[in-house]
Amino acid sequence: MKKLLFAFALSLVFAVTTGQETRPIAIIPQPVKVEKLTDSFRFTESVSLVVPSKNAAVQTIATSFVSKLRSSTGFAINITDAEVASSSSIVLSLNNTTEPQLGNEGYSMEVGATGVQIKANQPAGLYYGIQTLLQLFPKEIESKEVVMNVSWILPACRITDYPRFAWRGLMYDVSRHFFTKDQMKVFIDDMAKYKFNLLHWHLTDDQGWRVEIKSLPKLTEVGAWRVDKTGSFNTFSKPEPNEPRTYGGFYTQDDIREIVKYAKERFIDILPEIDVPGHSMAAIAAYPDLTCTPGTYVVNSGEKFMEWPAGGHFYGLVDNALCPANEKVYDFLDKVFTEVAQLFPFGYIHMGGDETARNFWEKSEAIKGLMKRENLKNLDEVQSYFVKRVEKIIMAKGKKMIGWDEILDGGLAPNAAVMSWRGIKGGIEAAKLGHEVVMSPATFVYIDYMQGDLSTEPPVYASLRLKKTYEFEPVPDGVDAKFIKGGQGNLWTEQIYNVRQAQYMTWPRAFAIAESVWSKKERKEWDDFVGRVEQHFGRLDFAETKFSKAMYDAIVTPKKTSEGKLQINLATEIDGIDIY
Ligand code: ACM
Repeated sequence: MKKLLFAFALSLVFAVTTGQETRPIAIIPQPVKVEKLTDSFRFTESVSLVVPSKNAAVQTIATSFVSKLRSSTGFAINITDAEVASSSSIVLSLNNTTEPQLGNEGYSMEVGATGVQIKANQPAGLYYGIQTLLQLFPKEIESKEVVMNVSWILPACRITDYPRFAWRGLMYDVSRHFFTKDQMKVFIDDMAKYKFNLLHWHLTDDQGWRVEIKSLPKLTEVGAWRVDKTGSFNTFSKPEPNEPRTYGGFYTQDDIREIVKYAKERFIDILPEIDVPGHSMAAIAAYPDLTCTPGTYVVNSGEKFMEWPAGGHFYGLVDNALCPANEKVYDFLDKVFTEVAQLFPFGYIHMGGDETARNFWEKSEAIKGLMKRENLKNLDEVQSYFVKRVEKIIMAKGKKMIGWDEILDGGLAPNAAVMSWRGIKGGIEAAKLGHEVVMSPATFVYIDYMQGDLSTEPPVYASLRLKKTYEFEPVPDGVDAKFIKGGQGNLWTEQIYNVRQAQYMTWPRAFAIAESVWSKKERKEWDDFVGRVEQHFGRLDFAETKFSKAMYDAIVTPKKTSEGKLQINLATEIDGIDIY
């Protein structure tokens, strides 16, 4: 009987093991080359992590890898600088490749029965190799707590991998809703897992100024706070003059330094955005003299303050723009960019430049005087005059300027990089003028849009399904690829009230963006991607990261036929799904 039980137990172990071995390799973003080998690697407590390099960044990578492994497996593995004959090992080798194509961020990896070898030219490559290695572990590796009874078996394989673009970004709007320092760290952790390397931090807007500027304290004393309202932005009633401003927050300069360091350890740069001359109500509430129409202003609490005619120019019901004819504005911006440049080591500063309502400029005597003095023919040229002066300020701080594609209007500043969001045409125009471009077209990568039908999703004014996001291609036909630095997705937060909702909007669409900016174009394949996304849903569950399953929802398209009948088309974006 005992023998029988033993045999039964053995067969169970075998079944589990076999089951684990046949788990598909499902890496996001898809690596350049993956060869599946026979065999597998079993991760146990006796595995050691071999790190010959004394490089500080590599040591940090090793320590955080060991701590990640410990959280879910419970195994406290040793870091050593040389292989131990008796134990299998995971070896991280720096400067040890004969593969120049790996560049600064690539890696090669071999997983076999006796161990794992990851090689890279630079620490970033080792870091990305580890992110891939973690994706070869069973999904339970993402758990924050120890998971018992898991066979930590990895499929044997050989991988060569490096990114297509150097700029792989996500933008996070912390103005419309504020997210704390710790919440930002969680977002950064999630970005790093999928090999994003750029966090574009939208720090200022009409609804809140979120970065401490020591020389301009009112920006955060006044500009960081608004009336707390819940519902649909743009529909709220106007705040009463004495209504308490209880919603908001900001990052102190120490907070910023802490987050910048945290991101850097995960090979993520932070691009700060100070959005001017429009989107400036929070700054104006603090310093009303910065408009062409000084008066009393309040931080916007979600009440309507602008008309947004389709295809037309914005029309401000309240003036939310800095005044290009006012010298105090440039003194103000000099102070802001001095401190921002010191806080953020990244080489670029984003100055916004989008969606400026100019109807208050149009009526301003000061603007008329500026136009005469500077021979500016129209408001596009007034805006361009402003942008060029901002570029001079930013360059004087040793940084390059980037702005939304409206900075092309009226003439681009000489050294500016352009972030193309109104489709790709601004990016094409800028690249043809020889300027650097980051592609971020709303039509493909605005992850604040609903990801399914209005009837099933929390309402936002537009929709963007996963499949469309997956079609994102940063290099348009006919454009010299050398001007396209990369691409990014944008998470605007008017309708995002908390972290769970932010995660729901981000995942899985950010998988699609990660793959568009990391993987080779010819390695992208929708059906295969969907299979991998499904594997990663299991990983997100263990990580307690919220995600959307809208890719399974029907696409509902009503239309009127030529006979005047209403026809409803039902389709799916994934093959093999039945609609009931
Ligand atoms: C933008 O979406 N206004 C850049």
